[in-house]
Amino acid sequence: MADKLRVELTGVPETLLWNLYHRAAEARRPDGLLDDPRAVELVDAIDFPFERFGQPAMAQWHALRVLCFDRAVRRFMTAHPGGTVVALGEGLETQFWRVDDGRVRWLTVDLPETVEVRRRLLPDDPPRRRTLAGSALDLAWTDEVDADEGVFISTQGLLMYLQPDEVRSLIVACAERFPGGTLVFDAVPHFMAERSRRGGMNPGAAYQAPAWHWSLDPGEHRKVLEYSPKISGVRDLPYPRGRGLLRIAPLVGRIPLIRKLRMPIVEVRFAA
Ligand SMILES: C[S@@+](CC[C@H](N)C(=O)[O-])C[C@H]1O[C@@H](n2cnc3c(N)ncnc32)[C@H](O)[C@@H]1O
Repeated sequence: MADKLRVELTGVPETLLWNLYHRAAEARRPDGLLDDPRAVELVDAIDFPFERFGQPAMAQWHALRVLCFDRAVRRFMTAHPGGTVVALGEGLETQFWRVDDGRVRWLTVDLPETVEVRRRLLPDDPPRRRTLAGSALDLAWTDEVDADEGVFISTQGLLMYLQPDEVRSLIVACAERFPGGTLVFDAVPHFMAERSRRGGMNPGAAYQAPAWHWSLDPGEHRKVLEYSPKISGVRDLPYPRGRGLLRIAPLVGRIPLIRKLRMPIVEVRFAA
C-alpha cells in the first residue's frame, strides 16, 4: 500500500476530518445513503487518528446534510449548464465527484493549511476544477469566479465558525457581486451554539469541536433578508429521507416540538 499522508490540522480546519470521517463511514455501509467511494479512499489514504472521533454515530445525519446540498447543486447545474459552483471552506469534501455533469466549473476556496492537504489528495484539474488558498472573508476569490453562466455558492459547515459580523459581510458581498446567484449554507440553531460555547456539545468525548459563534434558528429568514436589499429570497431546504428513525427527516420542519431543534440548510437567492 502507498504511504499514507500524515495530516496535522488543528482548530476549525481539523473539523473537516470529522466531517470526512462521518461521510466515509456512511459510504462504507452496504445500506448507506451516500455513494461516495472517494471519501472512503481519502480516509484510507490519510494518516490521522480518526478513532479520536469515537464511533461515527452521526454518519447518517452527515449524509442527509450533504445529499441536501447535492440536490441544490444539481438543481443549479440543470438550470445553468456550465455554471460555476464556488465551495467556500470545502475541506476534503468530494461533492464535485458526486454531482459532476461534465460541464460545471468548480472553485474551492479554503485556508492555506487546508488547501495544502487538499491539493495533495485531490489535485486540481483546470480549467473546470480549481482550488484557491485564502480566507473566504478577504473576497480575493470573487475575482476568480467566471459568472457568465451563473454562480452557486456553497458554504457547508463554515458559517457557524465565523463571527456574526463576518457572516453578514460575506453574504452581503456575495449578493452584491453575484446578482442572480444562489448561496446555500447550513447553520446551527441558537441553543446549540450557546451550548457549544459552554463546551457542552460533546461532554466526555476525546474530541471537542471548536465553538460555534454564528447561529440561526430554522425559519429565521427575516434576519438574513435584512442583511441586504439585494437578497430576494430565503428558504429552508428539506432534508432527504433517511433510514430508520431518520425516515421522517423531510417532515421534521413540520413537527411542532422538534422543528426548532434541527440544523437548517438555507438557500439564499440574490436579486438579478
Ligand atoms: C467543518 S469543516 C467543513 C469542510 C467541508 N465543507 C465539509 O463539510 O466537509 C470547516 C472548513 O472551513 C474551513 N475554513 C475555516 N475558516 C475559513 C475561512 N475563513 N475561509 C475559508 N475556509 C475556512 C476549514 O479549513 C475547513 O475546511
